[in-house]
Parts: sequence; structure tokens; C-alpha cells
Amino acid sequence: MQPTSDPRVLLNETSPVPVTSEATRAPLAFHRKLPGYSPTPLTSVPGLANRLGIGAVYVKDESSRLGLPAFKMLGGSWASYRSIIERTGIDPEGWETIEDLALQLEPHLPLTLATATDGNHGRAVARFAKLLGLKSRIWVPKGTVAPRIEAIEAEGAIVRITNGTYDDAVAEAGLAADANTLVVSDTSWPGYEIVPRWVIDGYSTMMFELEDQLASMGLPEPTVIAAPMGVGALAAALTMRYGNHIPRPVIIGGEPTNSACVLAALEAGEVVTVPGPHDTSMAGLSCGTASPIAFPFLAAGLDAAIAFDDEWAEEGMRLLAAEGIVSGESGAATLGTLLSLADRRADLRDTLNLGPDDVALVIVTEGATDPKNYERIVGRLPETVAAV
Ligand SMILES: Cc1ncc(COP(=O)(O)O)c(C=O)c1O
Repeated sequence: MQPTSDPRVLLNETSPVPVTSEATRAPLAFHRKLPGYSPTPLTSVPGLANRLGIGAVYVKDESSRLGLPAFKMLGGSWASYRSIIERTGIDPEGWETIEDLALQLEPHLPLTLATATDGNHGRAVARFAKLLGLKSRIWVPKGTVAPRIEAIEAEGAIVRITNGTYDDAVAEAGLAADANTLVVSDTSWPGYEIVPRWVIDGYSTMMFELEDQLASMGLPEPTVIAAPMGVGALAAALTMRYGNHIPRPVIIGGEPTNSACVLAALEAGEVVTVPGPHDTSMAGLSCGTASPIAFPFLAAGLDAAIAFDDEWAEEGMRLLAAEGIVSGESGAATLGTLLSLADRRADLRDTLNLGPDDVALVIVTEGATDPKNYERIVGRLPETVAAV
């Protein structure tokens, strides 16, 4: 059945994105040293362009990234690494392979990495800890599905289930910091801002890859970019990269209706908490509070924030499956955002660069991390089962 619900749309007046640091390729150089690194695929998908009525659609497929089924290892590994370097004083120039780094860390053990997660970030932090022989403790919200918990445990982590929302899990994980425990959160709070900024910086690898791929494939740059929004860290990274770009693409942030915390913050002019429960099948985007350090970038760099019902992401999963791309619910949020606009807000086509001469970038941020739900939505099990 075709989705029919109307998206909530907030058009946002953009201004120059604040420049707080020079974007360097240091995270990319670091990621290249990790086992299994290769750039994720970028593909032009004419079937999606036809469906949306857009000139071209590029899919950047993050369903397999550094051995995990989501883009999150980019931020989780870089922020964990920077935190470890800072804590131990290890020379960042003094290692070549992850095994070298693990050896150098031995005198500093025991060390534990801790964080809250909806699934993907925590699994990434736990994987990075495992690679280095560290321990990990990961907090998840009540209701997190078993495959996501089991996937984190399979990385050797101790998983704690919070009796509350993602925001409650963040608060609990934040208390874990001690002499041997580094908290590596992808969201920020007053007094805890440096590590989540490293998470944002880690996501830049995706954008440097994209730049290189467009150049080598001779493709034009996107004129519109859809960003999925949980706490807004990835969307902030996209605004940092493209918000002052010339020519500037339109950047559209999409989030679930039931956890539309970025839209609420843009409306209020400051970070606010939207009351739970934040029920959505887009589990990675289920949270009530945008990251305070992401907010200034989102306020300056997003052209629009869109809140839409799960059915749009689910339709996105089916369309991607028909093109041979396995996407989970949060992974299809970018396509869901554009679908809801194309079908229900044709009046915004010109304003949001969604016309026949435009080129859209759709980032598929995760694979099928909940295979049962994938089967319910797409009608068959994923060819690549990502979570287990
Ligand atoms: C698959 C997936 N996509 C998108 C996001 C959104 O990222 P952010 O929380 O930085 O807005 C997440 C966050 O966990 C995620 O897991």
C-alpha cells in the first residue's frame, strides 16, 4: 500500500554555517588503517530518480561499513581513538596497524569504553573496543529489539537495558566516566562537548569519499542532500561540509514524527526535549533531544526539517530492495524524506531543488539490523543479513 500521510515541514532560513575548525582528512587517514576499510559504494539509481521525479539520484550505501551494518563506525571509532590518545598520551604518529596500537595500549589497561545507543553507535564503539582489547559497556533504551542487543553483546560488550528512553540511556551512560572508563557518546550535553564533536568529525570520511567518487566517476555534484536525523550529528557533519559550499546544495533533514526533536528545536530556537514515548520503526532516529553541539550547524545549514511517519521509510526500504540495495528502517529515512515530499508536497519542488534538473544524494545509513522487521516490510529476508 502506498503511504498517504502528510509530512510536517519546517522551512528554515539558512545563514552561513559557523566554521569552528578546518575540515581535515585526518579521520579518513585513520579509517584507512582499520581492518576492512574501503570506500562504500556510490551508485546512480535511475529507478529512484524516476519515482521521485528528480533528474538523478545517487545512493551512498553505508549498509556495510568497516565490517558493520551502519555508517556509525566512522564516528564511533574516530571519537574512541581520539579519547584514548588523549587519556594515554600515545603518539598518534607512532602506529601503523590496529595491532600496533593495541600493543602500545597494553600498559594502560584496563580501559573501558562506554556509551548509550539505539543500536548502531554502541555496536561500533564495542567493536572498536574489541579490536583494541578493551572492555565496553553499552546502555540501550527499553524496547530495543533482541537482534540489536545480541549484535552488541557479540562484540564482547556488557549491555545494560535502561528502564526508559534513549535520552535516559544517555544520562545513565554519562555517569560511567571514571579513571578507567571513557564515555564516547555521539550526543552532547553541557560540559560534555569534545567527544561528540569528534564523532561528527569522524563522519567526514564519508563526504571525502563522496567527493573523490564524484570526481573519478565524472558526475555532477548533488543539488539536494537528504540527511537522516536522530540527535543530528550526521546532519551537522553534512551542513559543515556543504553548508557554505559554492554552489550550495539544499540540505533537507528528515526525522520520525514521534521523535521530531530537531524540528522542535528549530521551531523553539533552542534545544528542547520532545516528550516520549518516541515510538518509531526507525530505531536509530528515536530520541527526544537534539545534540546541543549539532544544533547551531543545523539551525544555520538546514534548508528544511521534515517529520514523517514510518510508512515512508518502509516504502523507501521496498524501493531500495527492488534496486538490489538492502536498507534498514533508519537507513531508508533519507529516501522516505524525499518520497513524502515528492508525493505530498509537490508545491515545494522548486524551493527544495526536487525538480527534473536536480541531483539528489540519498545516504542509506544502515543495512537490515532488524531482519524480522525487514521481512515484514519488504516481504522477504534480506540477502545480506546485517545484524548477526
Ligand atoms: C542508521 C542510522 N542512521 C542515522 C542516524 C542518525 O544519526 P544522528 O543521531 O547523528 O542524527 C543513526 C543514529 O544512530 C543511525 O543509527
